[in-house]
Amino acid sequence: MISYYGTGLMLNLASLNQLTRRAYRYLGNLKNTATGAATAIPTHYIERTRSFFEMLRRHDVVLPGMKVMEVGTGWVHWEALMLRNEIACDTILYDVWDNRSFERFRAFVKELTDPALRARLGLQNHDGLRLMQRIADTSSFNRAYDRLGFKYIVDPSGLLPMIAKDSLDFIFASDVAEHFDRDDIPQILSRTFKALKPGGHLYHQIVLTDHLRIYDRTVHDKEYLRFSGKFFDRFLNNKVQYINRLQIPDWHNQFALAGFEIVETNRLVHSDLSTIDVHAEYAHIHPSDLSCAVVQFLLKKPA
Ligand SMILES: C[S@@+](CC[C@H](N)C(=O)[O-])C[C@H]1O[C@@H](n2cnc3c(N)ncnc32)[C@H](O)[C@@H]1O
Repeated sequence: MISYYGTGLMLNLASLNQLTRRAYRYLGNLKNTATGAATAIPTHYIERTRSFFEMLRRHDVVLPGMKVMEVGTGWVHWEALMLRNEIACDTILYDVWDNRSFERFRAFVKELTDPALRARLGLQNHDGLRLMQRIADTSSFNRAYDRLGFKYIVDPSGLLPMIAKDSLDFIFASDVAEHFDRDDIPQILSRTFKALKPGGHLYHQIVLTDHLRIYDRTVHDKEYLRFSGKFFDRFLNNKVQYINRLQIPDWHNQFALAGFEIVETNRLVHSDLSTIDVHAEYAHIHPSDLSCAVVQFLLKKPA
């Protein structure tokens, strides 16, 4: 508990101004570089790749030649890399800051040349294996992007201003939308909707847990449910690891407001709410939604 509040305080200090926020990110990038190639592909990436492809295959979303974009592409462009292993596609990698780690990217690509790992990931296309073998010894992100058909964009606004209308078949993000600023969500989703071609799809895997739990495993998965939104935002939320605390019905509303048709909602992981006193603010939410810790959404722009 002490480290839960302590971390909230530290992250609030790191959020004080642009300088402290930049220093926090700089230190984060340094840590990634230092641990670099030593880290293996995390197990949760492997699990989430399987569920990513399972959902996409249920609805015939994966088609060769697609134009796609990964939002919040992060340090190694994981979902974009997975999709590129399965199909040839043009890919935009979009993020609000450059937190890439080339050493880690290359180490992960090397791991992806292992047929046993590919089977665990649910990868089926042998061309993808040959592609990974070709880029395993590449010397820079730019050289790898040339071979993969990737284009990297950093845009601090996070509002996708440069993406042309009706230009993309598929937009996807994992572990990102929980970090969208609450006030920006209507604009982000309406820009996402515009960027998609009619009939195009949007995929979000969203982690609904309290991210301060990363630093204090003794607290509940969804510890923030104990507090009013006002209290959490004032004392525990912060600008460097912000979470918006939207729940499944809130997301459904936001998707519908932007014009999306909800194709599937898959509640992947649940947490036990019997061990936590949930604040009255959340009383209107159905337990099966409120207990959900990880959810996948597939949305469609009507044709
Ligand atoms: C937890 S990381 C996940 C990164 C990557 N998807 C992965 O799982 O490896 C969240 C990412 O979302 C990005 N992000 C936050 N807000 C964003 C926004 N409005 N638009 C695009 N990316 C955003 C962050 O910069 C960060 O790279």
